[in-house]
Amino acid sequence: MSHSTEHRALDLGAFPADFTWGTATSAYQIEGAVAEDGRAPSIWDTFSRVPGAIDNADHGDTACDHYHRWPEDIALMKELGTDAYRMSVAWPRVVPDGEGPVNGAGLDFYDRLVDGLLDAGITPNVTLYHWDLPQALQDRGGWTVRATAERLADYAGVVAERLGDRVTRWATLNEPLCSAWIGHLEGRMAPGLTDLTAAVRASYHLLLGHGLATAAVRAAAPGAQVGLVTNHSTITPASTRPEDIAAARRADGHTNRWWLDPVYGRGFPADMRELYGVELPEQPGDLELIAAPLDWHGLNYYFPETVADDPAGPVPYARAVRLPDVPRTGMDWQIDAGGLEAFLLRLTEDYGVRRLYVTENGSAFPDAVGPDGEVHDPDRARYLEQHLAACARALRKGAPLAGYYAWSLLDNFEWAYGYDKRFGLVHVDYATQRRTVKTSGRRYADIIRAHRTQQA
Ligand code: IFM
Repeated sequence: MSHSTEHRALDLGAFPADFTWGTATSAYQIEGAVAEDGRAPSIWDTFSRVPGAIDNADHGDTACDHYHRWPEDIALMKELGTDAYRMSVAWPRVVPDGEGPVNGAGLDFYDRLVDGLLDAGITPNVTLYHWDLPQALQDRGGWTVRATAERLADYAGVVAERLGDRVTRWATLNEPLCSAWIGHLEGRMAPGLTDLTAAVRASYHLLLGHGLATAAVRAAAPGAQVGLVTNHSTITPASTRPEDIAAARRADGHTNRWWLDPVYGRGFPADMRELYGVELPEQPGDLELIAAPLDWHGLNYYFPETVADDPAGPVPYARAVRLPDVPRTGMDWQIDAGGLEAFLLRLTEDYGVRRLYVTENGSAFPDAVGPDGEVHDPDRARYLEQHLAACARALRKGAPLAGYYAWSLLDNFEWAYGYDKRFGLVHVDYATQRRTVKTSGRRYADIIRAHRTQQA
């Protein structure tokens, strides 16, 4: 099927009239200005200086220079025709030491940004924690200690107090799985630890922090719509062997159930507690806080996983199997939009989620500006259309999907992969900071316009 045929075939009628069409970014990945206006270092400033931690020794010092170029970036959102923008606030800009004095200049930046978005008719959806923990808190134990969860709530209250008269959509955490498992167990993200006990404790304190921050935002900004953003993959056993089926169940526990069961009132899954063998730092009342009813849930979906039993491997003893002859992105991630449909339906049917957003979905490919000045990225456009088609199917089957935020507005700092992996609908030339809307960005704009026209 050609791209344009797929586009025409997109079931736009499945999307409700008030469907949110957005893009997403996060602070450390785009802002730069790491030492400006009182911002202190985060764990990513530290980690990106560890030799070998980041491809090409890249770091976020300048990134997309969004701190200075945000008016241009808002103009790009308008050009795409989006009506919402998912962004994060940098904790080390607002509370540089992680606790104690608030940095007014840091808050002022987000104040201006929010006003700019609203003036442009774009609804902000603000994530409080997208991985940039103040280094000062890491020095006091980071997510392995309970105090960090409490400090998250203090900081969340400060931000909600300042922005809550204009911002109604809030997310506490982005992808706590990555902070805990990739940051503390696999060591591929800040703070770069490889310690199962630290990782399990971090996972617990992240979810506790989510619960405490939810209450803090609601107290500071009545009317706030608070959600949590988690990332998931559908997990398929590599064969019908009982060992592989059991491995898939463990991988599902590690990637999916550990993050959803406690939030939806089921507690931490017993099989995984036993597998990890790490005592949880539970205190009375914690589980109730973690399971406080949410106004919405954000799903970040990129790829499915196929796993085989791996008894000698790391927890959860399930090895990802690389399937031959399947389409992949530049991250080497398998492309399978069916996984997005399936996960939206699982959140709806199994967890009873009442309001859903796809808070991230997108693909990296090695784009370049061509001799014609354009960035032709048909693979990304196709990925976008396939995943929007999956959203349409999930909607038709009853998923309460209220919006879709494409990852990402801009090419940006892709963590340990540095700047080589480009996820943007808009290309960034890092030498000049010139932005160029890619053909996928234009495709997204066409889809949004077509949906609006259909509603009119
Ligand atoms: O860039 C990241 C983002 O920060 C979190 N979700 C996945 C994206 C792509 O890897």
